[in-house]
Amino acid sequence: MNGRITVRIMTVVILYHPTMLLNLSSRHIPCPAKTIFGRRGPLVIEIGHGNGSFLRHLAIRHPDWNLLGAESSLGSVSRTFRRLKHAGTTNVRLYHGSGLFILRNVVPVNSVHRVYINFPDPWPKKRHQDRRLLQSSFFKLAAGRLAPSGSIWLTTDHAEYFDFSVANGKAAPHFSVDTTADPPAAARKTKYARRWIDEGKIIYHARFCKESEPAHPIKPTITTQPGTMHHAILQGTIPDVDAFEKQVHAFDSGHVILLDAARPLGDDRLILFVRVDEPELTQELLVEVRPHEQGVFVGVMPFARPLSTPGTRAAIRITSRWLEGCGLRLQQQSF
Ligand SMILES: C[S@@+](CC[C@H](N)C(=O)[O-])C[C@H]1O[C@@H](n2cnc3c(N)ncnc32)[C@H](O)[C@@H]1O
Repeated sequence: MNGRITVRIMTVVILYHPTMLLNLSSRHIPCPAKTIFGRRGPLVIEIGHGNGSFLRHLAIRHPDWNLLGAESSLGSVSRTFRRLKHAGTTNVRLYHGSGLFILRNVVPVNSVHRVYINFPDPWPKKRHQDRRLLQSSFFKLAAGRLAPSGSIWLTTDHAEYFDFSVANGKAAPHFSVDTTADPPAAARKTKYARRWIDEGKIIYHARFCKESEPAHPIKPTITTQPGTMHHAILQGTIPDVDAFEKQVHAFDSGHVILLDAARPLGDDRLILFVRVDEPELTQELLVEVRPHEQGVFVGVMPFARPLSTPGTRAAIRITSRWLEGCGLRLQQQSF
């Protein structure tokens, strides 16, 4: 089995925590904060929290806030998890993935009190600017998810990115922009803040406040219902796999990558390691191929809590096609 996959799976296992990690697989999304946190309170999101020092500060300073951290680096989620566990906070949930996914698909319309973004990746090269977080599409999305008078607080060392963000915020129809306030003191103490302050850089801060409601908030791209994971039944014999070549398949809204296949020790099953890339969402799945009373069952294992999405549906379809190529016949499909 590919060593990197093993390490990633182990990290997910270590990160498994009954309350601190946001478990979306058992929920309908969009999902009210009251369901996620089990209580009412202002919903506050930090996108790109890095090692979690600012999130920890917010959690302790505002015990009444429901804090959601979204971070695309697994190592940073892991470091934040340890930091928060050590601090004993109970009002934070961590999501490993893009904050854009959280804003678009997880939080309901008009529900977010504040979004913090500290030292976002500046993507200074012109050709990479479409990767920047605070572009006009972000303000359109945020306008629909922020509660009335909700706001986005940006702190950055990067003058050009700051100007870019402020210009986009001013051009966005539903926001006013304030560049006169100081950044929160704790935002000047994050890992990146310390680095840039040590180098003598100026720290910029802007607050984008929602002033009016968009008539048509941006719609979610994915809505899921728990318990609707796709599967297929085939007839034939589960193939022996001595070697497996990575396969990349495109589907309507992304890619399914069959990375590797292995048989667990002393087991009749075949397990495929699959990555599914969808807009703002990457999932690493285990797809099992196992004997079943009606033939051979193909389905996504619940391990690592996958979300049922168009991408998981495509993963089952593509795995079934691969098995058909190995001589099995498709008998039943739910994809
Ligand atoms: C320059 S670091 C700043 C980290 C932290 N805020 C600090 O001040 O130390 C930017 C962070 O944003 C994360 N990131 C970038 N794009 C993201 C996205 N769309 N959603 C969530 N995290 C993101 C990166 O993984 C990285 O940890």
